[in-house]
Amino acid sequence: MSQTKSLNVDYNYTVVRLFALTTVLWGIVGMTVGVLLAAQLYWPALNFDTAWLTYSRLRPLHTNAVIFAFGTSALFATSYYVVQRTCQVRLYAEKLAMFTFIGWQIVIIAAAITLPMGISQSKEYAELEWPIDVLITIVWVCYAIVFFGTMIKRTTSHIYVANWFYGGFIITVAALHIVNSMVIPVSLTKSYSIYGGAVDAMVQWWYGHNAVGFLLTAGFLGMMYYFVPKQAGRPVYSYRLSVVHFWALIALYIWAGSHHLHYTALPDWTQSVGMVMSVILFVPSWGGMINGIMTLSGAWHKLKTDPILRFLIVSLSFYGMSTFEGPMMAIKSVNALSHYTDWTVGHVHSGALGWVAMVSIGALYHLIPAVFGQGRMYSVKLVNTHFWLHTTGVVLYIVAMWISGIMQGMMWRAVNTDGTLTYSFVQSLEASYPFYLMRFIGGLFVVTGMLVMAYNVIKTVRAKEGVLEPVAEAA
Ligand code: HEM
Ligand code: HEM
Repeated sequence: MSQTKSLNVDYNYTVVRLFALTTVLWGIVGMTVGVLLAAQLYWPALNFDTAWLTYSRLRPLHTNAVIFAFGTSALFATSYYVVQRTCQVRLYAEKLAMFTFIGWQIVIIAAAITLPMGISQSKEYAELEWPIDVLITIVWVCYAIVFFGTMIKRTTSHIYVANWFYGGFIITVAALHIVNSMVIPVSLTKSYSIYGGAVDAMVQWWYGHNAVGFLLTAGFLGMMYYFVPKQAGRPVYSYRLSVVHFWALIALYIWAGSHHLHYTALPDWTQSVGMVMSVILFVPSWGGMINGIMTLSGAWHKLKTDPILRFLIVSLSFYGMSTFEGPMMAIKSVNALSHYTDWTVGHVHSGALGWVAMVSIGALYHLIPAVFGQGRMYSVKLVNTHFWLHTTGVVLYIVAMWISGIMQGMMWRAVNTDGTLTYSFVQSLEASYPFYLMRFIGGLFVVTGMLVMAYNVIKTVRAKEGVLEPVAEAA
C-alpha cells in the first residue's frame, strides 16, 4: 500500500487516489449523459427509437451518475484524505476502506446497467432496485466504520470542523437510505414500497430533500472547510461561526422536505412547516458561505494568480445563490409559479454544477498533486482554462433555465378576459426551444472543461514523482 509521510505520520493515500481518479472519470460520464439529455430535449430524434436511449431511462442514469458516482466519489476521496490529515493518524481498517472503493464501483456499474434497462423503483434519486440498495447499505456501514474509527484513534485532542460535516453527512445518509428504501421484494428486479399514498410522498421527499441537504450540501461543506483555508493559506475566518453553522444547518434541514410537495394531498400544515423551515435555512447557509469567502480576507490578491482558489471561491458564490433562491422557491406563492418549470432545473444546476462540481474540482486540483507526490498540477494554465470553460458553461445553463422557467410559469397562468388560457402547452414548449439550445451549448463547455481536467490529471499522475514543483507565490 502506498503511503506518504507528513508530520511523521504515514497516511494511506491508495484509496484516496483511486476515488479521486474515478471522480474525474464518472464526472465525465455523468455530465456527458446530461449533455445528451439536453440535446434530446432540443432534437427528440436523438433517442433513435431505442428503448434504452429514451429520455425517461437516461434521466435517472444522469442523476445517479452525477450524484452517486461523481459527487459521492469526491466525498469518499476527500473525507479519507481530510480525516487522516486532521486527526494525524493513518486510516483505520484499511482493508475495509479498499472494500468501500470496490463495493462502490460495483454499485455504480450495477446502476449503469439496470437503469437503461428500465429496472427502477420509480423514486427520484432512489431508483435503484433492492439488491443494489442492500449493497449500498453494506458499503455505507463500512465507510462509517473507517471514517469514525479513524476519528476515534486520532492523536489530536480536537475534532476539526470539517470532520463534523463529513460525519453528519455519513450518519444522515445512512438513515435516509434505509428508511426510504423499505420495500417488499417480489423478484430480484421488482419490489414495492412499504409506504403508500401521501405517506410515501412524504417519506420520499424527506429523503430527497435531505439527500440535497446532507449529501450535496453538508458533505461538500466539510470539503470547503478543509480545502478553502488550505488553498488560501489562511485559517478559517471564524471557527465559532463554523460550529454554529454546523448545528444550525443540521437542525433545520431535516424539517424542510415538504416544500417539494406544496399544493398536494399532504396536510396543509406540513407544507407550511416545510416553507418556514426553508426560509429560516437561508441564515445558516449564508453564514457558512460568508465564513468560507471571508477566509480569504487579507489574501484576496491570491485570486488573481490561483485558479484553484477561484474554483473554490466561485463555488461558494453559487452556494450562496442557490441557498438564496431555494428558500424563495419554498414560499408557497413563489412555488406556484416555479414548480414544474425549468426554473427548478436552473436552481438544481446552480447548486449542482456551480457549488457541488466546482468545490469538488477545486478540492481535487489541490488533492491530486499532494497524493501523487507532486507540488502542483502538471499545468496551472490548463486549470485556469478549465475554470473559464466551466464558469461560462454554468452561467449559460442557469441563465437559460431561469428565463425559460419564469417564461413557462407566466405563460401557463396567463388567462384571457373570458377566462380561457392564453397559451397552449405546445406554445410554451416552442418558446422554450432557444433556451434548450443554450443549455446544450453550456453543457458542452462544461464537459470540454472536464476533458481538459482529465488530460491535466493524467499528465500529473504520470510525471516522475516530485518533478512538478509548487508555484512560487507572487510577492
Ligand atoms: C454538463 C453538465 C450537465 C448537463 C448538461 C446536465 C443536464 C441535465 C438535464 C438536461 C436534466 C434534465 C432536466 C429536465 O428534466 O428538464 C438534468 C437533470 C438533473 N441534473 Fe444535470 N446536467 C449536468 C450536470 C449535473 C451535475 C454535475 C449534477 C449534480 C452534481 C446534476 C444534477 C442533476 C439533477 C439532480 C437533475 C434532476 C433535476 C430535477 O429533477 O429537477 N447535473 N441535468
Ligand atoms: C437553503 C437551501 C435550499 C432550499 C430551501 C431549497 C429549496 C428548494 C425548493 C423549494 C425546490 C423546489 C421544489 C419543487 O418545486 O418541486 C428545490 C428543488 C431542488 N433543489 Fe433546492 N434548495 C436549497 C438548496 C439547494 C442546493 C444547495 C442544492 C444542490 C446542491 C439543491 C438541489 C435541489 C434539487 C436537486 C432540487 C430538485 C428536486 C426535484 O424535484 O427533483 N437545493 N429546492
